[in-house]
Amino acid sequence: MMVSMSTSATPTSTNGATRLARTVAITSGKGGVGKTFVSANLAAALTRQGLKVLVLDADLGLANLDVVLNLYPKITLHDVFTGKAQLDEAILPAPGGFSVLLAGSGLVEYSRLTPEVRDQLHNIMEAVKPRFDVLLIDTGAGISDVVLYAVSLAHEVIVVATPEPTSMTDAYATIKVLSSQQSRDQLNLVVNQVGRSGDGRAICNQLQQVVERFVQSPAGQAPRLNFLGDVPLDSSVREAVQKRQLLLELHPGSPASMGIVQVATRLLSRQPA
Ligand SMILES: Nc1ncnc2c1ncn2[C@@H]1O[C@H](COP(=O)(O)OP(=O)(O)OP(=O)(O)O)[C@@H](O)[C@H]1O
Ligand SMILES: [Mg+2]
Repeated sequence: MMVSMSTSATPTSTNGATRLARTVAITSGKGGVGKTFVSANLAAALTRQGLKVLVLDADLGLANLDVVLNLYPKITLHDVFTGKAQLDEAILPAPGGFSVLLAGSGLVEYSRLTPEVRDQLHNIMEAVKPRFDVLLIDTGAGISDVVLYAVSLAHEVIVVATPEPTSMTDAYATIKVLSSQQSRDQLNLVVNQVGRSGDGRAICNQLQQVVERFVQSPAGQAPRLNFLGDVPLDSSVREAVQKRQLLLELHPGSPASMGIVQVATRLLSRQPA
């Protein structure tokens, strides 16, 4: 596939070399834990820090980033995949000041990992990396080959889990697969929908203990979980999703907004893996 786009917005470092975006996949074991909510609001928080951010909706079969952001895209990844549109035309401005590449609903046929889907996703990532500071990849849930491939395109991973036992078990399964198949020795964890701020740290520690007992990367080490923060269960999140607005814009002072801002700060304070 030819991916063509203008290079007018290419960020350059002080020595004139092209900087590539930090690439972060946001994934989970269990569905519905808050990946898309975290992706959109984390993008807004990072944008406020002065970064140029793109969110790629890689939940190809069941995309809903457009719904959360109240966007009605005329051009989606589907059109880029089929050659009907240039990549440039599919990069859309989102509320919050960041950019999005939306999957739209026409991508059901791409929910299987065919060689074509691999090439398209890979080429699109390579084409946008020089143009942004941070690229967030909102993936589907679980360990299907499309999800694992989308995650493999990112240098860093954020696993989103909730305190529910089923979510913890599925987070553990995801961590195990990412460690064994992608040799990841570090993974970031965000615990969403916690009862109280601070609960996430204990959950991260519990998960780390299980991982240390039962998971080994091919190099023989258990992956380290970096706790990026927790986000309380907060009725303002549901309200923002209902109103199709970013929580950071609708209720910037809400506990969940503050949790997201903390996650952004911790992510930026970490060196990319
Ligand atoms: N911190 C929170 N407090 C309250 N409700 C929340 C919170 N986070 C998410 N939710 C609720 O959970 C719903 C699902 O969130 P979201 O769509 O982001 O999950 P997801 O992991 O992307 O799902 P999928 O696996 O289907 O892609 C939201 O619509 C919202 O109502
Ligand atoms: Mg989602």
